[in-house]
Amino acid sequence: MRVLVGGGTGFVGTALTQLLKAKGHEVTLVSRKPGPGRITWDELASSGLPSCDAAVNLAGENILNPLRRWNEAFQKEVLRSRLETTQTLANAIANAPQPPKAWIIVTGVAYYQPSLTAKYDEDSPGGDFDFFSNLVTKWEAAAKIPGDSTRQVVVRSGVVLGRGGGAIGHMLLPFRLGLGGPIGSGHQFFPWIHIGDLAGILTHALETSRVHGILNGVAPASTTTNAEFARALGAALGRPAFIPVPTSVVQAIFGRERAIMLLEGQKVVPRRTLASGYRYSFPELGTALKEVVAS
Ligand SMILES: NC(=O)c1ccc[n+]([C@@H]2O[C@H](COP(=O)([O-])OP(=O)(O)OC[C@H]3O[C@@H](n4cnc5c(N)ncnc54)[C@H](OP(=O)(O)O)[C@@H]3O)[C@@H](O)[C@H]2O)c1
Repeated sequence: MRVLVGGGTGFVGTALTQLLKAKGHEVTLVSRKPGPGRITWDELASSGLPSCDAAVNLAGENILNPLRRWNEAFQKEVLRSRLETTQTLANAIANAPQPPKAWIIVTGVAYYQPSLTAKYDEDSPGGDFDFFSNLVTKWEAAAKIPGDSTRQVVVRSGVVLGRGGGAIGHMLLPFRLGLGGPIGSGHQFFPWIHIGDLAGILTHALETSRVHGILNGVAPASTTTNAEFARALGAALGRPAFIPVPTSVVQAIFGRERAIMLLEGQKVVPRRTLASGYRYSFPELGTALKEVVAS
């Protein structure tokens, strides 16, 4: 299969590209920067879709970059980087003389309203209560293409756990120093997935013609709270993890609105993902974290 991957130079894209190549597929990336094995977004917009069997979009400005202030300019960039790239790929697919068989985007579980009691599967309502849920609604709408010549899949991902990137990249140093702990109250749910499984679900969705629609990209045991996550990460590193990060500190670094992503959470289950026949490599938090922290 020839797969076009927008934003494939990043954390998830690197893992996906490795897995696809290991399975004998060919990968072309769409990037802002030209290079070997890549096309740019401008080339895609002007020349149309290169010949391919499937397309994936993973492009997006890193929302939790602690060095960027949560102001209007950054919010616009967070939106634009996802909506325009998704729209560009969707247009190219819709106008392709030979449309690809599958088209997949990764969005987020921020679609579901944070709650200490609710449990969400792919059919649960959401998408209309704050900046991030609205973002997911607009993002998924931008991906829609008319007709049924191309199978469309949306993977709503939880926090991706993997070596060398993502949220855990920022957490490892304090935890290794024994300075880690829960964020805020620690009671909030912390939906997670191992990067190998997110790449695995995307590959499964690309290869399996019956898979369509929304899939939650979370581990089956991802009904973990943030405090349980902190304890498990401490245990995986053999370090204590008792020092909480106060709510006020998180809000000061990320801004109140963005801090919600860390201070609140959703209990999400991958009902349709499991029903689609996907078998997880890292269903349990302990083994997922051991793999991530192993040097
Ligand atoms: N990591 C997670 O925990 C997580 C959780 C839920 C959802 N997601 C979503 O999954 C997707 C992939 O995540 P990731 O962690 O792999 O992301 P990432 O590594 O931060 O970024 C992926 C790629 O997006 C492109 N990009 C970055 N800023 C951009 C901008 N301003 N305009 C256009 N393109 C831009 C970059 O590609 P080039 O430099 O080559 O252009 C980058 O390599 C993202 O859309 C993210 O929102 C991630």
